[in-house]
Amino acid sequence: MKILLVDPKNYDLKYSINPWMNLNQSINKDLAKRQWNKVRNELETANVKVSVCNSEEHLPDMVFAANAGMVVGEKVILSSFRDEERQSEKKYFMKWFTSNGFEVVNLPKNMVWEGEACSVIVGDWLLASYGIRADKEAYEDIIKHLKIKKVKLVELIDPYFYHLDVCFSMISPEVSLVCPLGFKNSDYDWILGNVKHVIEVSYDDALNFGCNIFSDGKNVFISSRISEKLEEDIIKAGFIVHKLDVSEYIKTGGGVKCLILNLS
Ligand code: ARG
Repeated sequence: MKILLVDPKNYDLKYSINPWMNLNQSINKDLAKRQWNKVRNELETANVKVSVCNSEEHLPDMVFAANAGMVVGEKVILSSFRDEERQSEKKYFMKWFTSNGFEVVNLPKNMVWEGEACSVIVGDWLLASYGIRADKEAYEDIIKHLKIKKVKLVELIDPYFYHLDVCFSMISPEVSLVCPLGFKNSDYDWILGNVKHVIEVSYDDALNFGCNIFSDGKNVFISSRISEKLEEDIIKAGFIVHKLDVSEYIKTGGGVKCLILNLS
């Protein structure tokens, strides 16, 4: 598996665009770098191939690679950020993708959609969140670039779960981690009907970024703040759990997965 990380040297908390970003808190930058290095090392030890994109000085959230876009084969659908504070990340991600041989797809102007963080493949479907950081209409375009043609739209209703990856993830094609409180009842029923094994994640675990995981199908990389119960549930489902301290990233609304973009 190949993934993209963005170096943490310019990571900081300088503005607030989600409820996690409390400006009375500050980032321990050395600790943030150590935590990022640990994430990188653990991934590489598990044979995940890591590429690194350089961050830009004036873009403190650029470290969250999951918001760069969504890679589909040799193409990348670039994100279109809601907030002005993040909008210029796009041109630097575009540069990285172009110089690394990807064909870049841009969404129509004024569409909001923040990449892999907003949409996840579930069987033959794209589970497509909208409401906080993604417009429903963006999927009309996105779908043109995917092999998958079925879109299940789900509205995100909790401001703490402003991206889908904070309350939902797939660990393998058959197993998912889901916080039911992140979804309308009918959407949660859809998930139950379309995923073979749903591991229910409590609201507390989701707020500790317990849904925000990266998995290679065997190893699950997850926030170290999760409960023993969630850890046991993941182990019982057949996976190896790697707990990583991402405290400095949680301060701005990010967990392990937010730092990672799938490249293959
Ligand atoms: N501070 C960032 C923002 O609000 C955090 C992004 C987290 N990324 C994610 N994939 N959930 O945009």
